[in-house]
Amino acid sequence: MKFKYAAMVATLAMIAPLASAFAADGDPAAGETLFKQKCAVCHKIGPGATNFVGPELNGIVGRVAGTAPGYSFSDGVKNAGWTWDADKLNVWLTNPKADVSGTKMIFAGLPKDTDRANVIAYLAQFKADGSK
Ligand code: HEC
Repeated sequence: MKFKYAAMVATLAMIAPLASAFAADGDPAAGETLFKQKCAVCHKIGPGATNFVGPELNGIVGRVAGTAPGYSFSDGVKNAGWTWDADKLNVWLTNPKADVSGTKMIFAGLPKDTDRANVIAYLAQFKADGSK
């Protein structure tokens, strides 16, 4: 048991830096196309973006989860207690329901590492005021 746990920690320690490397290497232009195809039905981002089916996503990298003003979050996201960074977004966008049980985001996830990295690179461009 002890051994298994140590092996798991070692594995996670190897995977975590890889995940952030993926996100850092993302292509924001490809991410924009993907955002329009997969996210824009529910989310707005950029100048003047407002809450929609989901919360507006300006400044999401570095924003505390579940804090978009005026948006009614599920208890799961509201109480997540973390700040979104590339690694957290990477896990979330792989499978939102597995990340936060009871989430209102009905989205199967983006299975491809490169797709997630690209979309995160796109999101990371926007400051809280919607400018780049
Ligand atoms: C079918 C609608 C829908 C789609 C498609 C969708 N989302 Fe969401 N998203 C939501 C909803 C609803 C929430 C609020 C979740 C909750 O409160 O449980 C949310 C929450 C989020 C959050 C957390 C925001 C916060 O303030 O904590 C992020 C980040 C996010 N979505 C990113 C994305 C991205 C990127 C995509 C595309 C790859 C996407 N979403 C696709 C509906 C959607």
